[in-house]
Amino acid sequence: KSGHFTYDPGFTSTASCESDITYIDGEEGVLLYRGYPIDQLADHGNFIETCFLLLNGDLPTAAEYREFERAITMHTMVHEQMTFFLRGFRRDAHPMAIMCGMVGALSAFYHDSTDINDPTQRMIASRRLIAKMPTIAAMAYKYSAGQPIVYPRNDLDYAENFLHMCFSVPAEQYKVDPILARAMDRIFILHADHEQNASTSTVRLAGSSGANPFACIAAGIACLWGPAHGGANEAALNMLQQIGTVDRIPEFIKRAKDKNDPFRLMGFGHRVYKNYDPRARVMQQTCHEVLNVLGIKDDPMLDVALELEKIALNDEYFVEKKLYPNIDFYSGITLKAMGFPTTMFTVLFALARTVGWVAQWNEMIEDPGQRIGRPRQLYTGAPRRDYVDVGKRK
Ligand code: SDX
Repeated sequence: KSGHFTYDPGFTSTASCESDITYIDGEEGVLLYRGYPIDQLADHGNFIETCFLLLNGDLPTAAEYREFERAITMHTMVHEQMTFFLRGFRRDAHPMAIMCGMVGALSAFYHDSTDINDPTQRMIASRRLIAKMPTIAAMAYKYSAGQPIVYPRNDLDYAENFLHMCFSVPAEQYKVDPILARAMDRIFILHADHEQNASTSTVRLAGSSGANPFACIAAGIACLWGPAHGGANEAALNMLQQIGTVDRIPEFIKRAKDKNDPFRLMGFGHRVYKNYDPRARVMQQTCHEVLNVLGIKDDPMLDVALELEKIALNDEYFVEKKLYPNIDFYSGITLKAMGFPTTMFTVLFALARTVGWVAQWNEMIEDPGQRIGRPRQLYTGAPRRDYVDVGKRK
């Protein structure tokens, strides 16, 4: 453009790194965590086991599982000073703003004791983050709901504990429904990692400078918040509410196809998947299970979602551009049915994705050839020119 370079619009990003953790085949709609298909892990495994797998490369033995789960459980509390930090936020602060701030603030408690060149200390920091994210997420929810903070319990598993911290109140202990806890655990598995998405790349770039892992994860949370990324689950539910009824769908499909209209079908499309997102299938099945166990028979938003999916999957624009529902399309309906406000949806995404972020951060730090990230650019600005005094400028 500047006469120096011709910008090639077909310029596509090359591979940013090598990784052993997650494999995606976008054309075939395949997602593997360390070689295991996501649907098998979601159907037969649990989130803590998936965390061990993503961090260590293999599924744990029974003894390894017990030791890992105990290590996580024993770190679910946060320093009591964090509650004072929490109270500094406005009551109407978005829970993602609270989570961003609180996770970054963990640096103040653990930065000095985390030598990132020591594998043992990196694993301790990783387990600390995985353990504390549900507690911080629940604190953000309780604070915005105007309810007292509920502390974690060591007799509950990871998903049960999170539901307990969110929905128990001093007046009444929350009775954890095992089917809802199983659904929550499965939702965490589905969101755990997704190779070099925007927020994971943010964590890697921040970590490449040697920044402490708590600050790097806070950077990942900030990036995930965007509606084109992790914020899409909140945006997808708001879109379904905006559409409202099945008969209004054609109007919105028309808008989504109009280049001059900024409206996009939230929960549709993906940078990598040009086929059905394998997580969306499991998410849709989980959605039906949750609505059934909660006795929600005719959820108008589910009716709109199912009809919207059917219409879009047969519309030539979406077929030609290979736009399929992604994980965010059904997660919002599920989480709303479970009692979460839309402002908590991306917080739950960040809670689950923390294990993927720390696994990718560890993989990068332990690479002996690792250097600071430094993306380059194609310069398209003004050519070299000399300074002109203000009196001579026209
Ligand atoms: C996540 O990267 C990851 O792995 C992310 C994630 C993870 O787990 O980390 O999977 C999580 O972020 C899932 C995506 C959530 N975002 C949304 O659902 C928001 C709605 N989707 C769009 O904003 C969009 O699909 C993106 C941002 C996801 C992808 O955008 P791209 O890269 O532009 O998509 P594309 O290249 O495949 O688009 C092809 C065409 C484009 O039109 P043309 O420029 O070719 O004319 O389809 C259009 C797009 O404009 N298009 C859409 C659309 N998505 C893409 N048109 C209408 N509605 C949409 N949803």
